[in-house]
Amino acid sequence: MRTPLIAGNWKMNGSRALLEAFAETFTAEALPEGVKAALIVPFPYLDAAQRTLETTPLALGAQTLNVEVSGAHTGEVSAPMLNEFGVRYVLVGHSERRALYGDSDEMILGRVNTALGHDLTPILCVGETLEEREADRTMTVVLAQVDAVFDALDAAARERVVIAYEPVWAIGTGRTASPEQAQEVMAGIRAHLSRHGARLGESLVLLYGGSMNAANAAELLAKPDIDGGLVGGASLKTDDFLTICQSAG
Ligand code: 13P
Repeated sequence: MRTPLIAGNWKMNGSRALLEAFAETFTAEALPEGVKAALIVPFPYLDAAQRTLETTPLALGAQTLNVEVSGAHTGEVSAPMLNEFGVRYVLVGHSERRALYGDSDEMILGRVNTALGHDLTPILCVGETLEEREADRTMTVVLAQVDAVFDALDAAARERVVIAYEPVWAIGTGRTASPEQAQEVMAGIRAHLSRHGARLGESLVLLYGGSMNAANAAELLAKPDIDGGLVGGASLKTDDFLTICQSAG
């Protein structure tokens, strides 16, 4: 049985005041039984988030990490630093980082390994562009992104990675993949990874991301291979994010 996970990715948004608002909305009883939720906040908010969210059921996530653990890497943040702030999840390979900050498959694998080596759960983001979808290359692109990481991991490590399928054309556009479109790709990812063993196929947690909101979450989450969500814009509104979390129950 897979545990649903709803993760809110604030991207380069949010404020201390928004953390306070989340603490007020997400009381200890806010989440349905058996649903996990996390807020993935910008680095400067981790300290305040750890304290502010302590009494809530929200776990903490970071948006990237460096492959190295310390040293001359100006502007970067390491896994041991994330550990110090109680971070549980870390995004790796978000399409914005792939497109804007040069995150390559090789760098992404390095980050996944570093995260796993420091007790962090990597959320590996994969997804096709509109051009790739229209050229009928969706599965080729998505499975290549998945294989670049999973082929290099051992069996125990594979079971610790969460995958987020985020079609690039659905991110921040208000254009959600239909539940059927998302289900088709996510079932394909699960089937593909089952060749590493049926147990991985069954246990793998798959999130959908891309304009998920309070109105469409229930329909997406009802699909058999969609175990949770990676939510951008709607994670900046406490009530909307709560509604999405409750839809996962
Ligand atoms: P939106 O929900 O704003 O489309 O963002 C999705 C996303 O990129 C989450 O990581």
